Amino acid sequence: MSGNFILIVGPMYSGKTSELISFVEIYTLGRKKIKVFKPIIDDRYSSEYVVSHTGTKIKAIPIKHSKEMYEYLDYDEKAVFVDEVQFFDEELKDVILDLIKKGINVYCSGLDLTYKNNPFNTTILLSAYADEIIKKKAVCHECGEYNGTISFKIVGNGSEIDVGGFEKYIAVCRDCYEKLVAEK
Ligand code: ADP
Ligand code: TMP
Ligand code: MG
Ligand code: ZN
Repeated sequence: MSGNFILIVGPMYSGKTSELISFVEIYTLGRKKIKVFKPIIDDRYSSEYVVSHTGTKIKAIPIKHSKEMYEYLDYDEKAVFVDEVQFFDEELKDVILDLIKKGINVYCSGLDLTYKNNPFNTTILLSAYADEIIKKKAVCHECGEYNGTISFKIVGNGSEIDVGGFEKYIAVCRDCYEKLVAEK
């Protein structure tokens, strides 16, 4: 039977990684075999752990290209987890479709939008194939409402690929985002 593909999206601080870790716990508590991957570029808190902003962490295999997942898989895993999918190449979609065809459940999480309010291509591509999309919100850093959907960069500008945390980004609602962009 085909596996399920669950995708968790949202802005920074919306709890994507925490939710991914909760799913990992369900499998590990049930003594199920799993593999967790993350992009090697994400060395924000650790290069060998998936780490949430609250500090919860789980061991992960850092890889550069999505096809490298094949080097680590035994194909008897019940589920495969990938955090920060926005940093991966679009071939991640083919790897995921291959895994679910083999009956492995796949859980991914990542940003849907860049701080410039553009879609992250790999995440959006994956969303077309997901069986379930869990869209998370953050508390808006400006107005305090629980409607934060966009990440805003508080320092500099430049590349839409720029690893960082509280020192570089805040999560805001659409209205506050517009105001901040107008002020910048
Ligand atoms: P993500 O992977 O989406 O960036 P994490 O799961 O790593 O999110 O972290 C979520 C945690 O971040 C929350 O449980 C909360 O403790 C903390 N946090 C910090 N800032 C905010 C915010 N603006 N809105 C919601 N949670 C926040
Ligand atoms: P997070 O969603 O788990 O907080 O992590 C998002 C990562 O993506 C973090 O390292 C910052 C980075 N990032 C970008 O590279 N470009 C962007 O436009 C945004 C919003 C975040
Ligand atoms: Mg995260
Ligand atoms: Zn707001």
